[in-house]
Order: sequence, then C-alpha cells, then structure tokens
Amino acid sequence: MTGMKQLRSQSWFARQDKNGFYYRSWLKNRGLPQDQFDGRPVIGICNTWSELTPCNTHFKTIADHVRWGVLEAGGFPLEFPVMSLGETMLRPTAMLYRNLASMEVEESIRANPLDGVVLLMGCDKTTPALLMGAASVDVPTIGISGGPMLRGVYKGSYIGSGTNTISMSEQLRSGEITLSEYHEAESCMHRSQGHCMTMGTASTMACLVEALGMGMPGNAAIPAVDARRNLLSRLAGRRIVEMVKQDVVLSKIITREALENAVRVNAGIGGSTNAVIHLIALARRLGIKMDLDDWDNLGRGIPCLLNIMPSGKFLMEDFFEAGGLPAIIRELGARDFLHKDALTVNGQTIWDNNKDAPCWNRDVIHEFDTPFKPVGGIAVLKGNLAPDGAVLKPSAASPALMKHTGRAVVFESIEDLRARINDDALDIDEHCVMVLKNCGPKGYPGMAEVGNLPLPPKLLQRGITDMVRISDARMSGTAYGTVVLHCAPEAAAGGPLALVRNGDLISLDVEARTLTLEVADEELDRRRAEWRAPTAKSNRGYVKLYVDHVNQANDGADFDFLVGGSGSGVPRDNF
Ligand code: FES
Repeated sequence: MTGMKQLRSQSWFARQDKNGFYYRSWLKNRGLPQDQFDGRPVIGICNTWSELTPCNTHFKTIADHVRWGVLEAGGFPLEFPVMSLGETMLRPTAMLYRNLASMEVEESIRANPLDGVVLLMGCDKTTPALLMGAASVDVPTIGISGGPMLRGVYKGSYIGSGTNTISMSEQLRSGEITLSEYHEAESCMHRSQGHCMTMGTASTMACLVEALGMGMPGNAAIPAVDARRNLLSRLAGRRIVEMVKQDVVLSKIITREALENAVRVNAGIGGSTNAVIHLIALARRLGIKMDLDDWDNLGRGIPCLLNIMPSGKFLMEDFFEAGGLPAIIRELGARDFLHKDALTVNGQTIWDNNKDAPCWNRDVIHEFDTPFKPVGGIAVLKGNLAPDGAVLKPSAASPALMKHTGRAVVFESIEDLRARINDDALDIDEHCVMVLKNCGPKGYPGMAEVGNLPLPPKLLQRGITDMVRISDARMSGTAYGTVVLHCAPEAAAGGPLALVRNGDLISLDVEARTLTLEVADEELDRRRAEWRAPTAKSNRGYVKLYVDHVNQANDGADFDFLVGGSGSGVPRDNF
C-alpha cells in the first residue's frame, strides 16, 4: 500500500511485540487470517441497531452489505455498536441523550484501530449524534441512513408517521373516531422497517446527510426495504476504503459551503426545525461558525418544493419514486442556491452528482417557479420574548396567524399543561396565544418535542385547528401548526419566557421576524427580580452533567465542553 498516509490502525497491528500480539491475536478468535493486518484500511461500521429503536431494526442487514463492500475493496471491516436513540421509546426525550451518544461515538472511533468509519443512522437523534461524534475525530467517514418506511395507508388514504398520529389523537379526543379505529390505524401506519416516512426529523436529517455530501447519492429517500438501499450500502463499503487511501477526511466534506447547501436544501424540502439545532451543533464540532441568522438568511428566497407531510400530502416513498433529493438539489443548483463545487463522499462534486437528475412527478417535487408553498426555510424570530432567537416553520404554519396579537394563556410546565388543557373551564379562545415554559434544554431537561401544544378540546370541537403556540421546547418534524419554538434563553435559565403571565399580550410578526411581549420594561424588571429558578430535576449522574453543561438551543444544545474536536491522534498504549 505505497503512497498512502500511514494508517492509524498500523499503530496497533504492525507491531511485532507483546502489544501487537494482543491486538492481533484476540481478533483472530473468530478466524481472521494474518493478512487482515497487513496494512489494509480498517473500517469501522458504527451501528445503532437496537430493538429499542424500531426505526433501526434492519441495520444488521445494512451492516452486512457495508461489510461485503469493504471486503470487496480490500479493506478490513469491524462492526461496533454505539448507544442507540429510539425516539418513540426513550423518556424523557431522546434529545437528552444525543450528546451522550455523540461522546460514545467519538471516543469509540478514536480509541480503536480504525482508519475510516461508516455511520449507520436512522431514527431522529442517531443521525446528529453519529455525525457530531465522528466530526470531533475527523477520519474518513460515510453516512448511511436506514431509509424511510413504506407508505402508511388506512381505509384507502395515506397516513403518515407522527403527522396522523397527532391528527388522529385529536380526532379521538373530539370523538370523531373510535378507539378500535385508532388501534387499527397503528398497524396501518407503520407496516415495514425503516424510519418515519413523513418529512420528520429522520427524513430531514437523511436529506441533509446527502446535501452535506456525507451520503452516497440517493441516500435520502430510498425506502428501507428497497433492495437499492442495500446496494447503496455495499457501494458505500467499497468507497470508504478508497476514501481512506485518498485521505478524504470528514472535514474535507463538511465545510461551511456544505453546511450552507444543507440549510438551503432544508428550505427546499420544508425540513424539520430540529435540523437547526443539529446542524449548528455539528458545525461547531468542526470549528465552523454557524448561527440562527445563517438559517434565516440562507433560506430566504427558497420556496418549499416538496409536497410531503406534514406540510403536504405525499410520503417519502412518493418522494423517492419522483426522483428523490437529487431532483431538489438540481432545482436549487439551477437557481444558484447551491455551492456546486462542494465535494461529496463519492469523490464527485454535489453538482456533478445531481445536475442531470430527473423528476418523474411534479405533483410531488415542484419546480422552483411553481413551488408547492411560496415560503420554505426557517423563520428566526427575535424580540424581548426571545433575545437570542426562536424559530418557526412557515410551511407548516397557518398563513392567517403569521401576524397575530393575542392574550397569553400560560402553562408553567408540561405537567401544568396536561392537568388543565382538557378542562372546559380553561379561560381560552382561538385568539389566545398558548405559552409553555420550562421545556428547554435545562428545563425539561433535554428539550422535549412538546412545543406543538394540543389544542383545548372545546376549541377542537368547534373546528379550530390551529393557534399560536410559544415555548422553549422543540417540535417533532412530523408536527405542524403556527408554533414558535426554541425560545432562547429558555425559561429555566431565566429567559424572558419565564416572565410571561396570563393575560399579557404577545405579538407575533413572522414577516418582520419579531416576537414581542407587550409588557413595559419596568414591569418585566420587577418580575425578573421575583423570579426563582425551578428546582433541579436531578443532583447526580448524567442528568446533572447535562443540565450543568448544555448550551442553549441557539448554540446547538451541545455540551459546552464538546464544542470542537480532539482529532484522530492515536492514544497512548494500553499495555
Ligand atoms: Fe424513529 Fe420517527 S420515530 S424516525
């Protein structure tokens, strides 16, 4: 293997001493021949398979295809598990553990004899956790998303992950459907392996993996159970060996330009608000400056091109059959909303990969001049209620509420909300602004996806389907509504959200990008002096570490001590 940079794995395997014996001999216990240690690239297959993460249960198969690709290219594959984050199971919220998983990924890669790594990612938080961890090591890396589930279909109509969970739950609460219909829909919605098949956070992040250049072309939308997902995995296995030989480390792919491409693609697909937090955190692992203003500025002028739930009516399988993300990237590139020279993991630029991408269905993927919705992107709001910013997804909001002033109805916590929301005596009407406090990174802790507050049943029964809602929480990418999220600083950190009281007037003006608490400064100062931080949820263990070190949402909600990277240097001997 001449001409190649010294492989870090050779610090383990090329040694002809006691330590080399340890490193090789124990691996030989499953029948590996001596020639596996001859200087060929060692490729880690970082697997988030878990039965507790239903979206990732097919990852053993994907890992096998990556393994075969690595072997075909003359590499040495070694699969390893990392903490898996199942969005539906993990309490209090999978986001609490994103940073923990990223630490495990980072340290697992650096501490082992790995020259390159393939990341297997699917359910929401597994993608940012693995990307962030790998970024802080910076070896050659390819991301493979698990792919979306097949369409959900119930009584002849599409039902999408999360999106219809929310709408059908409200229908059950208002008496429109029965409990047995509700149970039947559970089986109809999720009928194959894969992740949520709406444009939720998992699909959004899979798109951004491809937009960043970190995934092979087609990564975003091939269904989990389509044989072409296996083919992509096998080709990725072959390619990562080449990337090691060419020393194409992750930081050559994820550049400022690549991140800007991802932000613009997120606008074009009407992607999840969660992507804002994850991409800012990822950028900062690489020392790249990115903030909320970048999200607002870069996404301006880009319409939503994709008719998919929660903003539209189709599902990821339709997106794939219509041409997938390449067709979106082509639309953006044709309008110069793309850094065309950004390098991707297959060795080509993003424009080379996508400039001739076809589209087979313009009902699903719209052209730039006839978009699905005129405004994509993320609106970043600022004002005395969110001095460090808050976000709103215009494509999922009601146009009639984009400029609105209303009376605040305040819930001090998620428990307070659940205790009172179904009470017919609650003093609320459709013009009010619902405010939820103490659900931010420190407050929940973990910043749960509770920002799309359920509407009071008495308003649902009157046919009200949306109201302005404001919180320091996140929202599932599968959710919708005129929902202001990620208010920073959060209430539990003493942000102005903590000072809102029932009856205050709040003004939202999305066009002007403002969010204003219409209360005099002197009164707010008085309330601030009275404010007391909520009692700590835990005084030990990981939750304490989290609360003590988590950054605010506008900084990516990473741990303060994880920002940046420590590189891929080989640690000192263990013997
Ligand atoms: Fe895993 Fe939605 S629950 S992607």
